Amino acid sequence: MYTGLLHLHNLLRWVILVLIVVAIFRHLTGMNQKRAVNAGDKKIDLFLMIAAHTTLVLGLVQWFVGDFGLKLIQNAGMKAVMENSAMRFWAIEHITGMIIAIVLITIGRGKVKRAVDYTAHKKAFTFFLLALIIILASVPWPFREAVARPWFPGMHI
Ligand code: HEM
Repeated sequence: MYTGLLHLHNLLRWVILVLIVVAIFRHLTGMNQKRAVNAGDKKIDLFLMIAAHTTLVLGLVQWFVGDFGLKLIQNAGMKAVMENSAMRFWAIEHITGMIIAIVLITIGRGKVKRAVDYTAHKKAFTFFLLALIIILASVPWPFREAVARPWFPGMHI
């Protein structure tokens, strides 16, 4: 059950990354061409927000129930967690960075939700670009030695 949640969490990372890149591209071109926000933009942003919120819920369950969140702080203590880069990443940095990114995605999507002209493109572009940078910095990529996790669910590093 837990492994299934972890695999879904891993996979949703790719859904979020693809959707956010597409959304950023659409808002950038919309902004430059002064094109009004359309139904396609709104749909992509909505799916992005749903994927981000689903990942958030899964992540919260993992953080509270799994071995890589609250338990680290309970077992090792806050001081030891802060002094160890791997423990700090899982207990603090991953959750904080990702929650900030998901808030930015939610705000960006909110700007587009009822937009009728082109002005929301710039706001959504800015919020999503910031969120993308934070996500890229907060993912436990396979090349991040201390916290490495697989590219895809079930893969070995
Ligand atoms: C955009 C949002 C997020 C992305 C892209 C993301 C990405 C990932 C990835 C790729 C993994 C490794 C999965 C694996 O080992 O197969 C992971 C693990 C984890 N994530 Fe996230 N995450 C996000 C949000 C969150 C949030 C908001 C939380 C906490 C509230 C969270 C908590 C965790 C925990 C606790 C683990 C480790 C679980 C374990 O190994 O037991 N994540 N995340």
